Amino acid sequence: MIKIEKYIKEILIGEEALQNRVREIAKQIEIDYRDKDPVLIGILKGAVPFMADLLKNIHVPVRIDFMAVSSYGSSTESTGNVKILKDLDKPIRSQNVIIVEDIIDTGFTIDYLLKTLRVRKPKSIRVCTLLSKPERRIIEVPIDYKGFDIPNKFVIGYGLDYAEHYRNLPYIAVLKPEVYE
Ligand code: IMP
Ligand code: MG
Repeated sequence: MIKIEKYIKEILIGEEALQNRVREIAKQIEIDYRDKDPVLIGILKGAVPFMADLLKNIHVPVRIDFMAVSSYGSSTESTGNVKILKDLDKPIRSQNVIIVEDIIDTGFTIDYLLKTLRVRKPKSIRVCTLLSKPERRIIEVPIDYKGFDIPNKFVIGYGLDYAEHYRNLPYIAVLKPEVYE
């Protein structure tokens, strides 16, 4: 049996730190969206663990929906050519929307999502991301809720993948370089 921990170089954000921060963000959303019945839009697949933990810690009415997008390009670089793979189930017109993302890197994906969703006339729209790599930004995007700023390193775990693996790690980690080679 091969355990995936074998491929980890270092743990950047441990399980407890992640859970504590997610609870803080949930609390803030709870305060900001009391009586607003927001729709949390999870961006598949990376946002799944974050979205699940966030939801469990919000104790006011919320609804959820999901969207999947892809960006053409190599596996570790975004290109700005974003495409919808799965759209929302329901219209968001006049709704208070919160986009829930795993990571904002160049900013292309969230910029595309904001432009696409704003056309549908939501009442409000905010961005919630677990991670952000500010050094990598090409397009400036608004971030309303953010878990952690991280350095310019390719990270995996807690939803984030490399070639579709490692999403199941309960922490954020950096891969050993030999995995890429
Ligand atoms: P952006 O469009 O460049 O902001 O990239 C956003 C998307 O790229 C994220 O939703 C991730 O799917 C992916 N991504 C960016 N950086 C990383 C990383 O360090 N690890 C895993 N996926 C990443
Ligand atoms: Mg993603």
